[in-house]
Amino acid sequence: MPESAIQAPKVAKRPSGAMDTDLSKLGNNLVTKFHVLMRISQIYDSKNVALHQFIKECLQTINTLIKREGSLSLKIVKDDFFLNEQRLPYSVEGFTSFKYLLTQWKNRLIGEVIFKGPLDEKILKEFIYTLINLEEGSEENVTLFSEQLVNKGISMIEVSPLEVFEGEEGAMTLQKEDRHEVAKNVFFETIGTIKEVITHIKGKQYADVRKLKRLVQKAVRLVMEDESILLGMTTIKNYDEYTFNHSVNVSIYSLAIGRRLGFSRMTLTELGVTGLLHDIGKSKIPREVLNKPAPLDEGEWGVMKKHSLMGVEILLNLKQLGEINPRMVIGIFDHHLKNDLSGYPKLFRKKEVGLFGRIIQIADSYDAMTTPRIYKKIPFTPEQALSLLLRERGVHYDPILLKIFIGLVGIHPIGSLVLLNTHDLGIVYKPHPEPKLIDRPTVILVARDEKGGAKKEFVDLTETDGRGQFKRSVIKTLDPYKYHIDIAKYFL
Ligand SMILES: [Fe+2]
Ligand SMILES: [Fe+2]
Repeated sequence: MPESAIQAPKVAKRPSGAMDTDLSKLGNNLVTKFHVLMRISQIYDSKNVALHQFIKECLQTINTLIKREGSLSLKIVKDDFFLNEQRLPYSVEGFTSFKYLLTQWKNRLIGEVIFKGPLDEKILKEFIYTLINLEEGSEENVTLFSEQLVNKGISMIEVSPLEVFEGEEGAMTLQKEDRHEVAKNVFFETIGTIKEVITHIKGKQYADVRKLKRLVQKAVRLVMEDESILLGMTTIKNYDEYTFNHSVNVSIYSLAIGRRLGFSRMTLTELGVTGLLHDIGKSKIPREVLNKPAPLDEGEWGVMKKHSLMGVEILLNLKQLGEINPRMVIGIFDHHLKNDLSGYPKLFRKKEVGLFGRIIQIADSYDAMTTPRIYKKIPFTPEQALSLLLRERGVHYDPILLKIFIGLVGIHPIGSLVLLNTHDLGIVYKPHPEPKLIDRPTVILVARDEKGGAKKEFVDLTETDGRGQFKRSVIKTLDPYKYHIDIAKYFL
């Protein structure tokens, strides 16, 4: 079953009493020094003379503090720095430095640094260069930072991750518009990266799975904040880039299901990467079979059916195998098994289809059905696809996961074209979170602006008039291909 949900935030220790003036002065000086040091080291390399001079000044401040206090901890609690567990009041002159350091550390998800003894020039340089080279937003930073320090033989510096406090998330999360931009970038960047990975694997070159993982971490954060934005992106069905587009969509649907199951961020990241790589075995299938504009014959099917096993082989041969957890490998092996094991590969002995496999199976089938292909130019509408999945629930698909998936995309799934009782056409944007209002999603009214572009007017179908009657209701789902409506335009 799913791993435990995200841990409850720890409550910060808030010692009472004001900090003494000497310590406060030293602390302010320290923050200013760190601010300047981070900036200088971003401009100069570690051998620069100006840097050398400044490092000496910093060492004096840091070591004075360490001598006085024994050790030194600088920690972020919400929007404040705590110096050895006491809140550091900032001076007016020091404000810019405080702000800079807070932002820079927060961006790198670093929450605390402890110096357990006096530093020398080499140690301070290693520390600062490792810090500035961390990638913003990467949740692996603390592990990476600690590993690099240990590799350089430095054991007297400890770093800890940034803690998120209750009620703080609103302030930390992005505005809806920004989130949309971020989602778009993540979506297209991931398509580009999976394309790169597949091309490299085909050419037997080094494939960078870490980059994929970092992108999935961003997607996980987005899905946790608002799943509808990335889910909307799955309506972008790029006909020519099917394989890449499909991989990203499967990953998004899987993440959204995993989130509803309460997976931890780490499990979600693994699931998302598995979704991206689920068809990686197809990179070894001949192009003629893969892109055949007609149904496959028996021999070709036989070849095609090998792709899950080939995927496992590719994964196990990856250079960065450390990035791959066994359940990811099993997920790829399982993704066409089907619940009753009637799928492929054929097994000698019965086994349970793993959770990753069961999730990906639903995501995979739904995306494949709703995407135009060379041999099926007009795909199923989202509604038709859901009813096909439902028909095979229990036999091919895990019924509980399917229920979760339907709750996620709604009975009028995201991206469906619907006719409203007001004679307006609408595109389903987001299902209502309450199960009893699942037939009342938020829709975008289909309209054009003066330039002929897609105009976005969102209407909530739970809106009522003065007499308590619903203002608008869905009458039926329509086929967007018949109406020549490019659904994806409304989600971009
Ligand atoms: Fe597949
Ligand atoms: Fe697939």
